[in-house]
This record gives sequence, structure tokens and C-alpha cells, in this order.
Amino acid sequence: MKKVLITGSLGQIGSELTTTLREKYGHDNIIATDIREIDSPVVTEGPFEILDVTNGKAIHDLAEKHNVDTIIHLAALLSAKAENNPQLAWNLNMNGLMNALEVARELNTKFFTPSSIGAFGPTTPKDQTPQDTIQRPTTMYGVNKVSGELLCDYYYHRFGVDTRGVRFPGLISNVTEPGGGTTDYAVEIYYEALKNKRYSSYIAEGTHMDMMYMPDAINAIIQLMEADPNQLKHRNAFNVTAMSAAPEHFEQAIQKHIPEFTMDYQVDPVRQAIAESWPNSIDASAATEEWGFKAEYDLEKMTEDMLDKLKAKLSIR
Ligand code: SER
Repeated sequence: MKKVLITGSLGQIGSELTTTLREKYGHDNIIATDIREIDSPVVTEGPFEILDVTNGKAIHDLAEKHNVDTIIHLAALLSAKAENNPQLAWNLNMNGLMNALEVARELNTKFFTPSSIGAFGPTTPKDQTPQDTIQRPTTMYGVNKVSGELLCDYYYHRFGVDTRGVRFPGLISNVTEPGGGTTDYAVEIYYEALKNKRYSSYIAEGTHMDMMYMPDAINAIIQLMEADPNQLKHRNAFNVTAMSAAPEHFEQAIQKHIPEFTMDYQVDPVRQAIAESWPNSIDASAATEEWGFKAEYDLEKMTEDMLDKLKAKLSIR
């Protein structure tokens, strides 16, 4: 990776990835793009361009103009939003991906796009979900993610495009909040704990899902993109995770720092159904074996860091 174009760079992953890549590879070498422009270091601290990924020619023109050797395609709708508007989700998630892959083929660039635990479904083994297993998701987001995994494999086998990807779990970050995912509660809970000392969880007690702190997610992307291609057997859909947790585990971890914090439940049936169709915990051993994946943050360490960083961000003493 020497010169990188990132789509969806103002989103939850993009806003931190852009900053980290600029520090590592040089500010001028990371071309951030998004469909909107906001006041953010992503826009002000390096090249930034407006880009709608449903316009394939626009992706091509920008990638060519900046002479990039890598495309990191992040522009997508998350699971709950996709369920509310499946037609829009298909158009953005699938046509956007197809357009970006075509540009990678035409300009011979490396390619990364994330899949998700959402690529699994109710018939997938729920515990320690294997790398290669049944994938019959019941959400539009999941349909998009499985199709995306297959499409990226196809571009590698058929055209030799160097496509790579991971299945991310719920990602927790203190920089940019997620927009419309099922695992968003695991971010909201920290903001609410600091601001109001209480939180109403829309996911029911006992519902386990995999989670990961954003610094580990960013490292995973960089490590996979820098990995020796000869070591990669799976390429586009490596299971990665740092923890399997239910809402009450976040409650307990936060209470160690804020003893008066309380939580109750107001379960949202739509997001609860999505969560129940996903695994309780996934097995990331293929990622560890093939490119050395290892998460640094467990729930305790992440909670300490989240609360510290958010206190400063929200100016709470
Ligand atoms: N965090 C995502 C979501 O909830 C999962 O990929 O949609």
C-alpha cells in the first residue's frame, strides 16, 4: 500500500482508518472520499474528494487522477438501516461494491472491503462459528455481505485482483458513532453512562455478540493488507473478534468505573431478531494462522480506554 483511495471515509471505520493511514503512509498518500463533507480532520488534514460510489465512472476518475495502488471500500449501509430500506441497501452495498471492484480490475489496484458477522444466519453454528460454515443470513445486510464475500473471491479467481477482507464483529469507537447497526448499543452505552449514568438497552439481556475495539480493527486491516499473499488461503472473509459479550457484561464492566451506573431493557424487536440470527461467538483462528491476527483489547481494557477518551471528548470530569 503506497497510495490509497478510501470510500466512506467519514463513517465509523473510515474516520479512524484515514487518520492512522495518513500517519503511517504520509498525509498526501491517503485520498479520503465520502458522499458528504463535514468538519472533520479527514477532510482538512489530507486530500479529500466528494464521491458517490453508485457512480462507477466517478470512482474510476478519482482513482486514476490520484494514481492509487489500493482501494479500501467502506461506503455501505449497516444492518438495521438496511432492513428499513432494503432496496437502497442493495443499490449502495452491492452496486457500490461492484463499481469499486471494477475500478480495482481496470487500474490493477489492491482491494479491501469489510464483511461482517452479519454474513451468518440462524442455521450457522452459534458458538465458535467456524471460518468456513453455513451462511444463510435472513437480513438484507447479510445477503449483501455474503454476496460481497463471493464477489471479491470471484474477482480474485477470475481476474487476479488482489482482494482481501475480514468479517468484522460489532465495532466500538470513541471517535465516530456508528449509524444504524445492530451492535450500536455497545457504543451508546458508554456515552449514556458518562452523560446520564443510565442506559436502556434495545438488545435483550443474555444476547451474546462478538465485539472489537476500533484500534484492533484498524490494525487488522493494515496487517491483512500488508500480509504476504502466499500465506492467504481465505482472502475475503476472515473471521476476526476480540470478545463475545452481552449487554450485562458491558454494564458490569462500566460499573467498575462508575458504580452508580444502571441499565434497563427496552428491547427493539427488529434489532433483537437480527442479533439472534447472528453467532454468539466466532472462531478467528484462520486469521491468526494465515496473517498473525491478534486483538489487544478485551472488554476491561477497552472499557477503561473508552471512558477515559469519552470523558475528555465530552468534557466530563
Ligand atoms: N456492526 C454491524 C451492524 O450492527 C455489524 O456488521 O450492522
